[in-house]
Amino acid sequence: MDNPGSHHRAGEDIAARSERRWAIIASSLVALLIIVMIFIGLHWAGQPPSRVETVNPATLHLSGEFAENNLGSSVQPDGSVLVRVVAQVYSFTPQCILVPDRTPITFRATSADVIHGFLVYDTNINSMLEPGFISTFRFRFKEPGEHLMPCHEFCGPGHEGMWAHVKVVDRDEYRKLVALGRGNSCVQR
Ligand code: CUA
Repeated sequence: MDNPGSHHRAGEDIAARSERRWAIIASSLVALLIIVMIFIGLHWAGQPPSRVETVNPATLHLSGEFAENNLGSSVQPDGSVLVRVVAQVYSFTPQCILVPDRTPITFRATSADVIHGFLVYDTNINSMLEPGFISTFRFRFKEPGEHLMPCHEFCGPGHEGMWAHVKVVDRDEYRKLVALGRGNSCVQR
């Protein structure tokens, strides 16, 4: 016997099932989007803020731009100065960076082991040095002076004692030191 009430109930069941199915699909999509957002957020949090230039920290000292004799400051063909710095537990190389005033300076720095901080007092240079990545900053010192350069990321028990100096000299004096072969650092030799 055909019963209109059971037809009605079957129709309701189908509607309820289809509603549930679409609710599951819609909420899985929302959940998927949230997972993707969390993943992207964490992934970006693990990257340096602006640069994605990479370098192999294990072979840093052997060859390439961060080999020991390339560290410190050097005059570029356009007259600007390039400074390369390597951080390692618990020091910077070189320990004293010599640069001229009134000259565009590019710093390129990286870490040979763990995350260190790179901060030059009285400037806006403030970044992390991460193994595997090259941090780059540009700066122009207005006048001669000494700037402390402490590590400001906790890198281990020797962190407190990890710091270097940036020594800014008059650009003419700097040129003389370069001519004497003493332009790349102010470490006493
Ligand atoms: Cu290096 Cu703290």
